[in-house]
Amino acid sequence: MCCLHLPVMAITLCVVLIFVAAIHRCEGDLSFASYYGDHMVLQKSPERAVLWGYGCDGAQVTLILSGPTKQKTSPVNVTNGIWRVTLDPVEAGGPYNVTAVTKDSSATLTDVLFGDIWLCGGQSNMWFNMSMVFNASEELKLSEKYPDVRFFMAALNQSKTELLDLTDVEIPWSVAPTNLEGFSAVCWLYGRYLYDTLKYPIGLVESCWGGTPVEVWSSARALQQCGLENAGPKNNSVLWNSMIHPLLNMTIKGAIWYQGEANTYYHKDKYACTFPAMIDDWRMSFHKGSGGQTAKDFPFGFVQLSTDIKNSTSESFPNVRWHQTANFGYVPNERMQNTFMAVALDLPDPDSPLGPIHPRDKQDVAYRLTLGARAVAYNEKGVAFQGPFPKQIRDNGTHVIVNYDQKISVNKSDHIFEICCTETQVSCGSKSHWVPAPIVWSNKTSVELSAKFCEPSQEVGALRYAWRDWPCDFKACPIYSANKILPAPPFIFNRYSP
Ligand SMILES: *[C@@H]1O[C@H](CO)[C@@H](O)[C@H](O)[C@H]1NC(C)=O
Ligand SMILES: *[C@@H]1O[C@H](CO)[C@@H](O)[C@H](O)[C@H]1NC(C)=O
Ligand SMILES: *[C@@H]1O[C@H](CO)[C@@H](O)[C@H](O)[C@H]1NC(C)=O
Ligand SMILES: *[C@@H]1O[C@H](CO)[C@@H](O)[C@H](O)[C@H]1NC(C)=O
Ligand SMILES: *[C@@H]1O[C@H](CO)[C@@H](O)[C@H](O)[C@H]1NC(C)=O
Ligand SMILES: *[C@@H]1O[C@H](CO)[C@@H](O)[C@H](O)[C@H]1NC(C)=O
Ligand SMILES: *[C@@H]1O[C@H](CO)[C@@H](O)[C@H](O)[C@H]1NC(C)=O
Ligand SMILES: *[C@@H]1O[C@H](CO)[C@@H](O)[C@H](O)[C@H]1NC(C)=O
Ligand SMILES: *[C@@H]1O[C@H](CO)[C@@H](O)[C@H](O)[C@H]1NC(C)=O
Ligand SMILES: *[C@@H]1O[C@H](CO)[C@@H](O)[C@H](O)[C@H]1NC(C)=O
Ligand SMILES: *[C@@H]1O[C@H](CO)[C@@H](O)[C@H](O)[C@H]1NC(C)=O
Repeated sequence: MCCLHLPVMAITLCVVLIFVAAIHRCEGDLSFASYYGDHMVLQKSPERAVLWGYGCDGAQVTLILSGPTKQKTSPVNVTNGIWRVTLDPVEAGGPYNVTAVTKDSSATLTDVLFGDIWLCGGQSNMWFNMSMVFNASEELKLSEKYPDVRFFMAALNQSKTELLDLTDVEIPWSVAPTNLEGFSAVCWLYGRYLYDTLKYPIGLVESCWGGTPVEVWSSARALQQCGLENAGPKNNSVLWNSMIHPLLNMTIKGAIWYQGEANTYYHKDKYACTFPAMIDDWRMSFHKGSGGQTAKDFPFGFVQLSTDIKNSTSESFPNVRWHQTANFGYVPNERMQNTFMAVALDLPDPDSPLGPIHPRDKQDVAYRLTLGARAVAYNEKGVAFQGPFPKQIRDNGTHVIVNYDQKISVNKSDHIFEICCTETQVSCGSKSHWVPAPIVWSNKTSVELSAKFCEPSQEVGALRYAWRDWPCDFKACPIYSANKILPAPPFIFNRYSP
């Protein structure tokens, strides 16, 4: 700009000065990428943590790790202003200092721990912060007992192109209670409960945005799998570009996700494709971005949609809940391997100040997620994490017997089983004749339902359970696991496929 109105000689001089200034600015410009900071957690062994940052081309960067164990990496060259180092595996623990050094400059991260990194994504229910949760003040007080659970939050931003680094940080790596009030409640509680069983450091990375559909968190590649074009009215991929792509080079253990509400009215019927496709794509991309350090099938946990409108007859929520499981009803399954799900339709909160779609009980949600993580991500034996699901459904015309895959706890007085009565052999949909099917009898593993509301000429064409936005009161659905902790997930089964 300074060159604009000057004669030719002056322009030359000016350009030279700018050039010199640029070189000068680059000296001492050694730094880490935005999401590496003091108090952070890096992925522990057996994976190897990847670190990267900025420097001057021509410089050679060495990383020095000092703490309970020591490491000095071989020097790497800065290329196009970027350096990248993969550490040797480091066992859980700390604190460490990580120093990047060149011949004439250095940058240090202090108080770094090694542990497991979990990425927390989704929309407003993941964004929902600790100051809004039930028992907020007790939770914030309790957080002081968890100095080894560290957290970081990416700032909101969107981009039309895939970015190398975050444009901004909302919460730098922090030690609770500092900054915890504004951090995701589900993410924090998940980390805290995990710490209770793992007893080693946990790093939580929150990257989410309220009101966002799955399409904005998906790459063009993932959307193509589901026949969706790369540009749409809802700005496909814009948050993938700015809030996920920059993180790909960090080694992570896994991800949790609370999203789907925005897809109850946008591309709802695509969700059984778009959600698993996004998971596949994230896995492939994090694996590649970390040079193979992040597992290519890393564990992915998610919350099945909670509730929104009491007495609503809309099937949007039930449909998206079903699609969240790729229409299997449970996870993991053939399509969605190494995943786990927290069922949340029995945790309504009619009085939430942010509206009933944002229930304040994030403790139960996070606890249920942790059960899934222990079983699926950490292979802990004997941890029950799935609610009862039908193993076999039989009917003899007047009664239907649902045989569950585990022992159940039953409340017979609630009528949220429904039967579709048909006269023709067609698949039942939302417009079909659905009637309540009261539970008339149960034992430790089965319930018997009455088909008395069908005409004698009709047969049972389909059966569904909890197929409503808001199927029951707080923790009062009819079917739970025997220990009453895990609610049965909703299901729909048609005798005749569509
Ligand atoms: C890390 O650096 C800080 C400040 O320079 C120093 O006080 C601390 O002892 C160092 N810790 C380790 C583990 O090297
Ligand atoms: C790094 O740069 C030096 C020259 O500055 C060169 O000799 C060396 O081969 C480079 N190393 C790599 C891995 O590219
Ligand atoms: C999002 O879409 C709107 C119009 O649909 C457009 O004006 C805006 O530039 C887009 N933003 C990004 C980041 O692509
Ligand atoms: C958002 O990202 C754009 C670049 O994509 C940048 O220009 C802008 O400053 C960022 N906004 C914030 C608030 O960081
Ligand atoms: C927590 O969320 C509430 C509701 O969205 C918001 O008003 C508040 O500013 C947030 N707290 C922090 C510390 O960010
Ligand atoms: C991050 O990983 C991607 C994908 O492998 C790669 O294209 C990019 O150069 C990497 N960025 C850095 C800073 O290493
Ligand atoms: C839901 O329906 C019940 C029974 O009809 C009624 O008492 C209640 O007021 C309704 N609740 C809402 C929020 O509409
Ligand atoms: C809040 O605290 C009370 C008293 O300790 C406890 O009974 C209740 O379960 C807590 N609520 C949640 C959602 O954790
Ligand atoms: C169907 O089974 C129920 C109990 O299992 C029994 O009470 C009923 O009589 C049977 N109906 C027919 C038509 O066999
Ligand atoms: C069973 O459900 C009914 C209706 O929702 C409720 O009033 C009753 O308290 C429940 N019983 C038990 C044991 O939970
Ligand atoms: C429960 O009843 C079903 C249907 O009659 C039967 O198949 C099953 O063996 C019974 N289970 C137990 C534990 O009694």
